[in-house]
Amino acid sequence: MTNYPLNLAIHPDVSGHFDPATNTISYIVKDPASDSCAIIDSVMDIDYAAGRITHEHADTLIAEIQRRDLVLEWIIETHVHADHLSAAPYIQDRLGGKIGIGAKIMEVQETFGKIFNEGTEFQRDGSQFDRLFSDGDSYQIGQMACFAMHTPGHTPACMTHVMGDAAFVGDTLFMPDGGSARADFPGGDAGMLYDSIQKVLSLPDRMRLFMCHDYGPNGRDIQWETSVGAEKADNIHVGGGKTREEFVRFRTERDAQLAMPRLIIPSLQVNMRAGEVPRDKDGRPMLKVPVNGL
Ligand SMILES: [Fe+2]
Repeated sequence: MTNYPLNLAIHPDVSGHFDPATNTISYIVKDPASDSCAIIDSVMDIDYAAGRITHEHADTLIAEIQRRDLVLEWIIETHVHADHLSAAPYIQDRLGGKIGIGAKIMEVQETFGKIFNEGTEFQRDGSQFDRLFSDGDSYQIGQMACFAMHTPGHTPACMTHVMGDAAFVGDTLFMPDGGSARADFPGGDAGMLYDSIQKVLSLPDRMRLFMCHDYGPNGRDIQWETSVGAEKADNIHVGGGKTREEFVRFRTERDAQLAMPRLIIPSLQVNMRAGEVPRDKDGRPMLKVPVNGL
């Protein structure tokens, strides 16, 4: 971890907002030295059966930012989510802020541009986003210096964002009793995921870790905050010194039994466009279903 500019003396205020429809946690992270903040992994509501999109979850984030009089500087996606839609453009229209994602989004756009048979009007250069982060890139939220770590495996574009003593791991890890995310989507790789998890676990033990998802395993209440030390000791998939080989074998067997996420088809089409719903030739918002394409 020597090359990353760590500063555990900064303790940002983190407020988590759980979305029960998709088990996603969206965060508002505030710089302790100013009114500046960032949103991480927002959610747009969809009733897929009805083709209806609404914004209740995003509106709760917007209302909190307005109530606390905060200035939104960043709207960050830890990765192209396959289980929920991003509300980034809806939030940006109302509060401003720059939308950022990992630079490897271009690979994801290439892969799913083909699967969804998108025409040439779909740019595969990440230009739908305001900022593309590469490993080690730093940026500011107010006076707080933050940086992104490339943590691929679940998807090629996954990044962990470190802000003071808080790290937002996306789907690189779940809570210790939840283990890790699947690595079988196109571009995913279990070995790469293991290496990325080790990268996160090489952060200082007392670094706070914030999850993108929690499913309340074994009936416990939903939780989203843990620490590097707790994950190292207790994570059921990688804790206690599990080897790369053990992890890859376990992850591959497990992934082969998992069904596709309920919202993968709308999520990918929207999220690879930074949260914009695609439009048909007449300009109407429209989603596709590639038959036997995934
Ligand atoms: Fe994900």
